[in-house]
Amino acid sequence: MPKRLYVTESFPGESLSSVPEDVSIDLWKGPEPITYRELAETLKTADGLLCMLTNRVDRALLEETRSLSVVSSMSVGLDHVDVAACTEFGIPVGNTPNVLTQTTAELTFALMLAASRRVVESDRFVREGRWKRWDPELLLGVDLHGSVLGIIGMGRIGQTVTKLALAFGMEVMAWSRTRREIEGVVWVPLEILLARSDFVSIHVSLNDSTRNLLDRDRVMNIKDGAFLINTSRGGIVDERALCERLTSGELGGAGLDVFEVEPLSAKSPLLNLENVVVAPHIGSASQRTRVRMGEMAVANAVAGLLGKKLPNCANREVYD
Ligand code: GLV
Repeated sequence: MPKRLYVTESFPGESLSSVPEDVSIDLWKGPEPITYRELAETLKTADGLLCMLTNRVDRALLEETRSLSVVSSMSVGLDHVDVAACTEFGIPVGNTPNVLTQTTAELTFALMLAASRRVVESDRFVREGRWKRWDPELLLGVDLHGSVLGIIGMGRIGQTVTKLALAFGMEVMAWSRTRREIEGVVWVPLEILLARSDFVSIHVSLNDSTRNLLDRDRVMNIKDGAFLINTSRGGIVDERALCERLTSGELGGAGLDVFEVEPLSAKSPLLNLENVVVAPHIGSASQRTRVRMGEMAVANAVAGLLGKKLPNCANREVYD
């Protein structure tokens, strides 16, 4: 009997058609994303799961579906998977690090520039026929060069953002749980970073220690006029407090790819603000990177189904 791999979304590339014959693919084809209940039901007869960051894989689901021998997520972040419970049940968990590092760092700059140089606002201005003359005071923004960028989290993406920032002529301050010597980076306590940075960019993963890291008090302490950029996870920032400071005009603006609840409601007050640029969680969304993420996720899933070690395993202790 071939092993049954359940896949929750189709994705770019051909990697699903290249799985070995002893693996059969079952792909969700609904017009809407699969629900938690539907996933729990279908996984009762699956050997492996290839999921997205939108699929919650928690202890209750694992308990219901006992037969899984691998959980492979097409994402680097694993806040949607209870990795500790997977380890307890002997299930290796795969993810897709590295390939999306540069792509996500590039989106960070896309949002930073779009917000600080008012690119989206300018686009609307021209399209709406409001451009009547060249005006020396029109749509003035903030330069990146000569500004201070505060990076929260110095993992792979934070380090790549650092390199790009230095190339832009920015000064870089950082706060991270683990500190490493990086040329051009000044390490500071989080409160100092928030109080002194002209741009704050978030690059920690979401877990119990980073959830609400930028709580109300910290959001209130971000320097007046600064821009907040988030390409990590919405749950790290108190969105309501952020919205208040953006609405009052105390903050310069924000570039947000991630939100506390996704998809962001069309009624979100953030969407009424000219100084906010939003994107629908597209940090890794270049054609090439998504193909490579798909290949890695398939390689992890197939390895797990065939009883081999996952090439990118987030809970190596499962093999101890
Ligand atoms: C994207 O947010 C990812 O975790 O891959």
